[in-house]
Amino acid sequence: MSAQPIVIAHRGASGYLPEHTLPAYAMAFAQGADSIEPDLVRTKDGVFICLHDIHLEATTDVEERFPDRKRADGRWYAVDFTLDEIKGLRVHERIAGRFPQQSAARFEVPTFEEMIALIQGLERSTGRQVSIYPELKAPAFHRDAGLAMEQDFLDLVRRHGYRGAGSRIFVQCFEREPLVRLREIGSQLPQIFLLGDNAAAREALTEASLDALVGVANGIGPAKSLIEKDPALVRRAHDRGLLVHPYTFRADDVGAEYSSIEEELKAFFFAYRVDGLFTDHPDVALAVREEGE
Ligand code: G3P
Ligand code: CA
Repeated sequence: MSAQPIVIAHRGASGYLPEHTLPAYAMAFAQGADSIEPDLVRTKDGVFICLHDIHLEATTDVEERFPDRKRADGRWYAVDFTLDEIKGLRVHERIAGRFPQQSAARFEVPTFEEMIALIQGLERSTGRQVSIYPELKAPAFHRDAGLAMEQDFLDLVRRHGYRGAGSRIFVQCFEREPLVRLREIGSQLPQIFLLGDNAAAREALTEASLDALVGVANGIGPAKSLIEKDPALVRRAHDRGLLVHPYTFRADDVGAEYSSIEEELKAFFFAYRVDGLFTDHPDVALAVREEGE
């Protein structure tokens, strides 16, 4: 459907630097990514921060810094910590074999506004424009915690110039209800409904469910395995004017059907004809797209 599929830097250039850090976002921009993804959760004092999990321990040293602040389930929740406390944490690599997990290099959790300032600063200094691709993580959980996301998120992005259907932003979520709510409170920003490879997705991908998605979302973000199992999904979405942006393409975790990430990317760009894709390795995806069929 798109003239050229877009390359979305998944958690920044997270194949090379710890995910959701300002250096990872800067590297993605420098590599030429078309769009850069922050996942968003909220702190106890309501600040939107760039973090994949609602918990802190997978990518920070919270366990050593605050050993007594875990909940009964043994997890350290971002909503239990103030921004000031989270800013004192050190971020480390999540995935073994990538950036050294034990490293003297210092990384911190950025706020969403710091991410936007970085991207808009780079846009100005380089003259190249990109989109941002924020994901609202677990809105129902945040609502239950007294930290509903939708209105505050919309106010924040509007303050930074993201307004209207043509804005350089995609708002993504695995929950459908927040996308509906954003429309109800007046957002016309492009929205993407995320789908895992699970029973809920099969329900969301019936003809009737796809019909009902039009108006709520501008596209879907399916797990790539959903397209492998049913390549007609791309055409069924396109027939309704919906974009298709699958996730996640990783040089160190290639789909079983392929011998390399390049081969996998070629299939999705040129055989399945998706409109964009999320990748930890934007430079690789850009090279494959540039080479063409
Ligand atoms: O948002 C697209 C993709 O990032 C969804 O998976 O778990 O990496 O946020 P996740
Ligand atoms: Ca995401």
